Amino acid sequence: PLCLYAKYLQPFQLSPETLQEVSARLRKDLLRGLGKHSHHKAPVKMLPTFVRATPDGTEKGDFLALDLGGTNFRVLHVRVEEEAQKVLKMDSQICAIPQEMMLGTGEQLFDHIATCLGDFLESHNLKCQTLPLGFTFSFPCEQLEIDKSILIRWTKGFNCSGVEGKDVVQLLKEAIQRTGDYHIGSVAMVNDTVGTMMSCGYKDQSCEIGMIIGTGTNACYMEEIKNVKRIEGEDGRMCINTEWGGFGDDGSLDDILTEFDVEVDKTSINPGVHIFEKMISGMYLGEIVRLVLVKMTKDKLLFKGQISEALGTSGRFETKFISEIEDGLENAKKILTELGLDWGLVDASVVCLVCDTISSRSAYLCAAALATLVNRIRNNRKLDHLKTTVGVDGTVYRKHPTFSSKLQKAVRLLAPQCDITFLVSEDGSGKGAAMVTAVAQRLAHQSRLLEESDGEDDDDEEEEEGQ
Ligand code: GLC
Repeated sequence: PLCLYAKYLQPFQLSPETLQEVSARLRKDLLRGLGKHSHHKAPVKMLPTFVRATPDGTEKGDFLALDLGGTNFRVLHVRVEEEAQKVLKMDSQICAIPQEMMLGTGEQLFDHIATCLGDFLESHNLKCQTLPLGFTFSFPCEQLEIDKSILIRWTKGFNCSGVEGKDVVQLLKEAIQRTGDYHIGSVAMVNDTVGTMMSCGYKDQSCEIGMIIGTGTNACYMEEIKNVKRIEGEDGRMCINTEWGGFGDDGSLDDILTEFDVEVDKTSINPGVHIFEKMISGMYLGEIVRLVLVKMTKDKLLFKGQISEALGTSGRFETKFISEIEDGLENAKKILTELGLDWGLVDASVVCLVCDTISSRSAYLCAAALATLVNRIRNNRKLDHLKTTVGVDGTVYRKHPTFSSKLQKAVRLLAPQCDITFLVSEDGSGKGAAMVTAVAQRLAHQSRLLEESDGEDDDDEEEEEGQ
């Protein structure tokens, strides 16, 4: 009887060859994104982050961090201790962002952020200090400097008016000025992938990739500056925020999309945008499963052909149900009951199978994309063999019972010459943002010292010329 269900699930099952093909397509798209002229139209944006170094272990100080773009908005006070090689979260506070605000005006959103930060400073007696601030803003931004960052477009559940095309640092500073009662120091803008890489980088200095598989999905990695054609300079590396969620936005993945993926995209708040992300991340996985279950039920293969009100409502099958259901049949039964479904044992097993198929596809697609990145780093460095560390975060990766092992196994197959250690980041968006700010300060300090000593050399030369 299971073969009755196979026809619905088979389009989700990607062969190793297909995954290799996906990886090869992404490889080409990375190049388009890096190119000087091709990047404007590239679906994978490959955004420079102005993070030029990973931590070297000498960073220190107190920092504020803001984190917007995941499940919650948070304000944090973080201390980086050189002696202990530790990043300590001193205090943090979560502020809810109501749904209306996610879809309201930018001014309302930034006023809310500034007020939350102000309240936090007040209640932790930090108002009189002027601390540097790392702002984890997990959306695609065209960064012009570490503290100048233009929002290209909203993704995930956000869509506030008047922010796209604007400098987010400016909007934050203006909102803080409007509150009129506190100041902040220098600002560093950070994507969550970058924060994740940097927070793991303090512990493991070979961490050169950051990956998120949560509400959205994305990764960053250290690229040779000479390959980033729109940045001046030949030497050294820069962290590139790939925005791989946009892979497929030019139709390049159409052949592997299922009718359910097409439906999820069509009914999302941003149709046509972030196609790859919509096959992978937590914001969408539950909905894909729901659509498959609805179709099977309509075809009388499940729940005696009866769709309950919950199952018929978009968004009601949460992605966390997938993790719970795959954790055991008993959970599946409980959830199906809660969803008001009249289930039998076969129904429960089929639901498990559907969840497994869709979460596995997500893990394998991530693996294909990650393989592209590690292979690229290996080629950049002309190595036969690369040993590297990936910092990872996100609810899907963390909470799903088998996601991480499936992903890791598949990457090993797709990138056999790379030996990858996976480190789950401890609060990359909070501590990592502080780390980015700390590294930026260290580099600025070093280049000031260099300039001063260069200046001395200049004087010497002039004197010599004079003689
Ligand atoms: C979305 C955002 C990206 C972020 C990712 C994970 O893809 O565009 O900037 O890193 O979600 O949160």
